[in-house]
Amino acid sequence: MRAQRPDGFRYSHPKGTFMARRKKIYEGKAKILYEGPEPGTIVQYFKDDATAFNAEKRDVIEGKGVLNNRLSEFFMTGLNSVGVPTHFIRRLNMREQLVRSCEIIPLEIIVRNYAAGSLSKRLGIEEGTQLPRPIVEYCFKDDALGDPLVTEEHIAAFGWATQQDMDDVLSLALRVNDFMSGVMLAVGIRLVDFKIEIGRVYDGDFQRLVIADEISPDSCRLWDIETGQKLDKDVFRRDLGSLTDAYSEVARRLGVLPKNSATVSKPTLIN
Ligand code: TMP
Ligand code: ASP
Repeated sequence: MRAQRPDGFRYSHPKGTFMARRKKIYEGKAKILYEGPEPGTIVQYFKDDATAFNAEKRDVIEGKGVLNNRLSEFFMTGLNSVGVPTHFIRRLNMREQLVRSCEIIPLEIIVRNYAAGSLSKRLGIEEGTQLPRPIVEYCFKDDALGDPLVTEEHIAAFGWATQQDMDDVLSLALRVNDFMSGVMLAVGIRLVDFKIEIGRVYDGDFQRLVIADEISPDSCRLWDIETGQKLDKDVFRRDLGSLTDAYSEVARRLGVLPKNSATVSKPTLIN
């Protein structure tokens, strides 16, 4: 047995390859976070688990994690390239990406272009109705409470974010909306709404905000412009067919996966 490396890797295989032993920081419904290789970094692992309605409905959808890892990489890289800062550093493998560790503001930030989902229910507006302008909503991130809708009054009074933070959050959310709407429109998909999370990173004495978590069809509503076909997690929430087919279609149109890609197939035995 060789000596343990100071970085925590352990040589445990008889032929000298080593297995990583790393620290799990947090496990959520769709992702696991591990301590990253350098201070201030995190490895974000995308699981195949799908949940909806605060985990009342759940399933394992083979290949979802691989698709979301790729799609989130695509959107985050695009945002970085147009000057919208994100936590994304680089993709590591099929299911993992390296991200900057940040302090998540405990809000789900929702931007809506067309009425759907909880907005349609709450205000009695037919799904698909174009909104007069993008509407930004905030939900308090708390599973036990079912992520309730809150206003800026609650956010300020309870100290979840400062007024300066909220000015930046609004501006970032609208920039993400412009970028994502354009990218999707170019491939014949309507960005109906989406959810993002934003975190604080510290550079010395300075703090800035970055887009964190993931951007994927798990956290957006995406409808085909011609047919209205849903290409997002509503396929799972509402039992509308194959979720991986829907996500693969988004990935294929964006050129993220080659045509007829076999990334989501099971390993096959080679004789
Ligand atoms: P909603 O209409 O159910 O409030 O959802 C608005 C958007 O937010 C939609 O694109 C789906 C996304 N979303 C999440 O990413 N996570 C959630 O927990 C919920 C409820 C919605
Ligand atoms: N809230 C997530 C969704 O519906 C998942 C969940 O609540 O379990 O998108």
